[in-house]
Amino acid sequence: MIKVRTGIAGLAFCGLLGACSDGGTAKPADGGGGNTVQPNPFEPSDLKMAAAALSAAIADAANAADIKVAVVANRHSNYWTPAQIGAGRAASSIGCFSSFDATSDGLSASQVDILNRKVTESFAGISVSAIDATGIEPAIANAVSKGVNVITFDSDAAPGSQRTLYLGTVNYEAGKAAGAKMAELLGTAGGKVVAVAGLSTAANAQERIQGIRDAFNGTNVTMVKSYFDDINFDTARTNVESALTETPDLAGIIGVYAYNGPIALGVLEAQHKVGAVKLVAFDLDTATLDGLAAGKVDAAIGQRPYWMGYLSVYLLYSMKALGVAQTKTLLAPWMSGTNGDIFSTGQDIVTPATIGKYREYLESLGISSS
Ligand code: BGC
Repeated sequence: MIKVRTGIAGLAFCGLLGACSDGGTAKPADGGGGNTVQPNPFEPSDLKMAAAALSAAIADAANAADIKVAVVANRHSNYWTPAQIGAGRAASSIGCFSSFDATSDGLSASQVDILNRKVTESFAGISVSAIDATGIEPAIANAVSKGVNVITFDSDAAPGSQRTLYLGTVNYEAGKAAGAKMAELLGTAGGKVVAVAGLSTAANAQERIQGIRDAFNGTNVTMVKSYFDDINFDTARTNVESALTETPDLAGIIGVYAYNGPIALGVLEAQHKVGAVKLVAFDLDTATLDGLAAGKVDAAIGQRPYWMGYLSVYLLYSMKALGVAQTKTLLAPWMSGTNGDIFSTGQDIVTPATIGKYREYLESLGISSS
């Protein structure tokens, strides 16, 4: 019943600046000493602007403490830790409650159970990374029919879904970036490449793999096979071992989910094939960061899970407090896609040359992986 008014926007902005860890004292752009300090190239200024706009709009809107929003990821893994931190910080800035869940088994039925429970527990909104792009729809439709706002994040539902919007990486473009990077690494000679990925029913894996394939068009790089593991780390390891056995002249591996790169690196190290097989990862797991710094991982496509969590909470809160229509109007400058229902959180390409700056950016957010 607490009416939160003062300081919300300021608090949120402090979080946005990543300056709260040093007491909330945001430094002027030139550090106060007259020398121009260049912003970190990995700072997503567009996302910060969107969050600031939402924060300002909701500052006076509702009884924040009465509102509960849920973020539902696909399967437990440390990839989600920064998203959890982002979601928690946003909820703390707003003064509302947020929960963060994921399945322990990667099954769509388990995720459907979580969604149904959130509806029964009177959550105002749900942000879900769909394990099964099609299979999730009845649960989304059920939530919407009961007045619960639903958005997807990280991995979208199938076209025609009743979710209001998708928030996250444009996965096809991210796949294209990974494929283009691999083609660049292999040069004109090209070679055989495999993709190792998590959930075969998830749109994010499917779209990334399609993007990778399309990036190889017109090059001498061929995609020989995609392996899936359902976010089971043992299967992920076996998949890399099988790829190396089945394709003895393998030239490159693309790790499509966050743990695939680190697991592939472990296998390449064990088989003394680091460098001989090029490795492009998705995400900046701590092992991928270390691998890049050591020159053992050739490149990584960074997503922004911190911001997916942070903005999920702001979006759902705003949809409840201001309404869906007003929230969409507010977000219009950041929306894309043929239906105008995609809020891209962007992507980063991180290489051994840029790993230092990337780490500095993560430190500014108070997180150690992404
Ligand atoms: C994907 C997530 C997945 C995670 C697994 C990420 O690349 O976007 O959907 O849960 O990898 O670690």
